[in-house]
Amino acid sequence: MPKAHSDIGLIGLAVMGQNLALNIADHGFQISVYNRTVEKTDKFVAENPNTPGGVIGTKSLQEFVQSLAKPRKMIILVQAGKATDAVIDGLVPLLEQDDIIIDGGNALWTDTIRREKALKEKNLRFIGSGVSGGEEGARFGPSLMPGGDFAAWKELKPIWEAVAAKVDAKTGKPIPGALPGKPVKGGVPCTTYIGENGAGHYVKMVHNGIEYGDMQMICEAYSLMQGLLGLKAAQMGAIFSEWNAGSLDSFLIEITADILKQVDPTNKKKAFVDIVLDTAGQKGTGKWTSTNALDMGVPAPTIAEAVFARCLSAIKDERVAASKILKGPGRKYRGSKKALLVAIHDALYCSKICSYAQGFQLMRTAQAEYGWKLNFGEIAKIFRGGCIIRAAFLQKITEAYARNPELANLLLDPYFNKMVKKAQQNWRKVVSLAAECGVPAPTFSSALSYYDSYRSARLPANLLQAQRDYFGAHTYERTDKPRGKFFHIDWPESSRPQLEV
Ligand code: 2AM
Repeated sequence: MPKAHSDIGLIGLAVMGQNLALNIADHGFQISVYNRTVEKTDKFVAENPNTPGGVIGTKSLQEFVQSLAKPRKMIILVQAGKATDAVIDGLVPLLEQDDIIIDGGNALWTDTIRREKALKEKNLRFIGSGVSGGEEGARFGPSLMPGGDFAAWKELKPIWEAVAAKVDAKTGKPIPGALPGKPVKGGVPCTTYIGENGAGHYVKMVHNGIEYGDMQMICEAYSLMQGLLGLKAAQMGAIFSEWNAGSLDSFLIEITADILKQVDPTNKKKAFVDIVLDTAGQKGTGKWTSTNALDMGVPAPTIAEAVFARCLSAIKDERVAASKILKGPGRKYRGSKKALLVAIHDALYCSKICSYAQGFQLMRTAQAEYGWKLNFGEIAKIFRGGCIIRAAFLQKITEAYARNPELANLLLDPYFNKMVKKAQQNWRKVVSLAAECGVPAPTFSSALSYYDSYRSARLPANLLQAQRDYFGAHTYERTDKPRGKFFHIDWPESSRPQLEV
C-alpha cells in the first residue's frame, strides 16, 4: 500500500529524471512523478511497479503537489533555462510556505541566484543542486552538489545522502556494484552542502569545465600516440588500461580504454573510434566556465583551450580545405617508443594538475565575488565518486586541502609540487615534440605555459604596461617604489636620452 503522501516528488521524466527517480525509489523513498507529456508518466509508472519505495504517477501539477508530504520537496529535472522557469511559475501558486523546490538541472548559477531570491520573497525555499554522473550516475549514485537555503538542505539531506554515490572511507575509491532495487550499503556519500544560493550550480559548472579539460587532454594523449608513434586503436586501448591501474586511475581513462578497444558495429574489421566523425558538440557549461574566468579575470587558459579545441573540431569542412593548403614540418619521431609513452603519461598528469588548479582557483575567486564560504576539501571529496571526473587523483586533492584548507594553488601543495618536479622534463619533451612534429596539443602546451607563467616572479607585463602607458597614458608602477603609486611618461621621449645598443 502506498503512503498517503510521498516523501519527495520529481518533475521531468527525460533520461536523467527517470534514473534519479528510480534511484530515490530504490532507497525506500516514495516518489511522486510528473511529466508535461502524460503518456511518459504512465509508461514510466507502468514499467516500474515494484520499486522498494514506490513510484506514484500524477497527471497534473496540482495532483503532483497534493501528493507530497509537507514541507513538500520537489525536484525539477527539465531543460535548463526557460523550461525551468515555466515549471517554477506553474508550481508557485500551488505551494505553501516552506515548501522546497530543488533544481537538479544544469542551470546557470546566476539563474539559480535569481530564482532563490524570488522564491524566498514568496516564503518558498530553493535548492540548486548540481547532479553529475550522467544516466548511470543518476540511476546508481551521482555526485550531488546542493546550494541554497541551509535549513531546506537539512530536510533534503537524508534523501541526497542516500542516493549519492558512495566512496570507501579509507581509500576514497568509489564503491561499485549497485543494482536495480539493490543499492550499495555503507561508504561516504558524495554530497555535501556547497553554499548559499547558486554555489552548488557554480561548482557543478566548474566540474564540467574541468571535465572538458580532462577529456581534451586524454584526446591529445591519444593523438600524440597516433601522430608520433603510429599506434593503432587497440594498442592504445591497452596502454590506457595500463594507465588506469596507476596514478591516472579514473572513469574517463577507463572509458577511453573501452572505447579504443571497441570494434565498429557495422564493420567488425574496423576500430569504432576510427569511424567516428571528428566534430565535437557542446552544451555550454565549459563555455560558461571559461566566460566566467574571463569575467572575473582568473587565469583558466587550459579549460578555455579545451572549449576552443571543440570549436576548432566543429569547423571540419574548413579544416579539410586548409589541410590541402597549409603545410606542417613533416617531421617524424624516431626515438624510443617506451620512453615516449611514459612521457605522454607524465605530460597528461602534469597538465591535469594545472587544469584542476585553474578550476579550484576559479571557485576560490567566485566565493569572494558571491560571498560564499566554499570548502575545497569537501568539494574534492564529493568529486571522488559518482561524477564524470571521478579519479584517484581527487583523493590527492582532498589530502592537499586537508593539509592546507587555505591553499592558494594546487601546484603549491607539496605532493603536487613533487609530482610536477619529477615529471616536468617529460612534459616539456612531449610539448616540444608535438610542436616539432606538428601534432596539435593545445591543452598540454597551454598547461605548460600556465605552469611556467605561474612560477615566474617576473613576467613580461612590465613591457606591456609600458606600451599601455605609451599609447594610452595608462600609467605604470615602479619596481623601486611602493605598490599603488602610479607614474606616467610623456611619450614620445625623443628629447630624452635613449639607451645605447
Ligand atoms: P516533455 O516530455 O513533455 O517534453 C526534458 O526535455 C524534460 O523537460 C522532459 O521531461 C520535458 O517534458 C520537460 N520539459 C521541457 N520543457 C518543458 C516545459 N516548458 N514545461 C514542462 N516540462 C518541460
